[in-house]
Amino acid sequence: MNILVIGIGYVGLVTSTCLAEMGHHIICLDIDKDKINKLNKGAIPIYEPGLEEMVKRNVKAGRIHFTTDYTDSVQNALVCFITVDTPINEKGEANLCAVENVVTSIAECMQDYRIIVNKSTVPVGTAQHIAQWIQNTLDNRGVSLDFDIVANPEFLKEGNAILDFMKPDRVIIGIDNPDIIHVMKEIYSPFMLSHERLMIMDTQSAEMTKYASNAMLATRISFMNELAALCELTGANVNEVRKGMGSDERIGFSYLYPGVGYGGSCLPKDVIALRTHAKSLGYDTRLLNAVDEVNDEQKNVLGNKMINYFTAREGIEGRTIAVLGLSFKPDTDDMRKSPSLVLVQHLINTGAKLRLYDPVAMDNARKLIPSHPNIAWCNDEYDAAENCDAIALVTEWKQFRFLDFKTLLSKMNGKAFFDGRNQYNPYEMTKYGFDYFSIGVRPFYAEKREKMPLEKTQELYT
Ligand SMILES: NC(=O)c1ccc[n+]([C@@H]2O[C@H](COP(=O)([O-])OP(=O)(O)OC[C@H]3O[C@@H](n4cnc5c(N)ncnc54)[C@H](O)[C@@H]3O)[C@@H](O)[C@H]2O)c1
Repeated sequence: MNILVIGIGYVGLVTSTCLAEMGHHIICLDIDKDKINKLNKGAIPIYEPGLEEMVKRNVKAGRIHFTTDYTDSVQNALVCFITVDTPINEKGEANLCAVENVVTSIAECMQDYRIIVNKSTVPVGTAQHIAQWIQNTLDNRGVSLDFDIVANPEFLKEGNAILDFMKPDRVIIGIDNPDIIHVMKEIYSPFMLSHERLMIMDTQSAEMTKYASNAMLATRISFMNELAALCELTGANVNEVRKGMGSDERIGFSYLYPGVGYGGSCLPKDVIALRTHAKSLGYDTRLLNAVDEVNDEQKNVLGNKMINYFTAREGIEGRTIAVLGLSFKPDTDDMRKSPSLVLVQHLINTGAKLRLYDPVAMDNARKLIPSHPNIAWCNDEYDAAENCDAIALVTEWKQFRFLDFKTLLSKMNGKAFFDGRNQYNPYEMTKYGFDYFSIGVRPFYAEKREKMPLEKTQELYT
């Protein structure tokens, strides 16, 4: 099938490439000329594991084309997917300007019946607005054309996007006209071979399912972060608690990891947009308000641990801290709303010096972190550790899993390690000689190690 995908960002490029991989012919359209020029020259604008090879393979096979031209694109595709950004505005509402611009452009170029499939995350009721915007434009043109709107929210996770798209847990199809179900089934049929995962519902429920899913994930994360604080106060180990809870099949293990707070381009904005939409309807989402509040506070937890540690040691001002990982999660270069941005600002405000490193997000990080005399950009994790008083692990990239701790320590001036992702074994870290801090486990100080009931501790943590 000929399909047009509009908005070639993280979702649009993955959607296009995966649909092309299954044999569809895809036109990728974006208003960003520079991005389209680069794509036409073979440069992939985002980092997503496996994406580059797949794009190149499908370009070579002639199944993907990149353009900025609406007229030809809309005329050559029965189905137009919308995958543009829907950030929040200063009032906390989803900003639908890009969606409105896209559908207006489609309606300006339509010569025939079209199916408009919206994958962007939008408030409940947007499918009706889209229909209205299209109708208004057609009326202005003085033409009468039929069209249908589908709400098809996307659930892929950056860093695992290709697998998520290729083997989706479910594909939500919100439709008000049952006559077009067969078209959506045809598009997605190659992804449903093992079993049917297409769920058909009305457009409002489809739009709400996306917000509800992200709100639930955010709630689990904030719940665990609150529990982690409680564990530190009571002496419980949140890692053990997590395993104990997760093994209950009613709870499960996913999204039960405490850390430095959720970030990225989706969870933060979607929780806020849902809260704002609810408020406009006269409903106060008390639970979601707290989820956000806990998350905002959590982004300061690691920085506060550092300040407390150095306050007991003549202060943090002038101390050098290595920050490992800047992207909001591993396997992506996406820096949007990354907790590292809050941490960097927090530490710079204290007068600390920072040595920053991320395996792929350095370019995007430089765009969002203003240059500062106290910030150095490093070549790798060992370079970052040079002469530093502390290391902070912020993003759990795989390459940080098995660090050479002896080498790290030998390069450092100090011995503090702040693990924002609970990646390491507290007992082992103190054995190396670190003062080790994680989220939800009481601190392990190197000098106190000999006083610990070692066998007991080792038994517990290995
Ligand atoms: N990124 C994710 O992990 C993810 C996952 C699920 C859902 N979503 C949702 O999908 C949507 C897209 O997110 P994203 O992260 O891919 O966005 P993005 O910012 O990476 O990409 C959006 C693209 O749309 C283009 N665009 C904007 N206006 C346009 C127009 N009028 N015509 C053509 N192109 C236009 C931009 O130039 C940009 O390239 C959002 O609603 C988001 O909430 C994102």
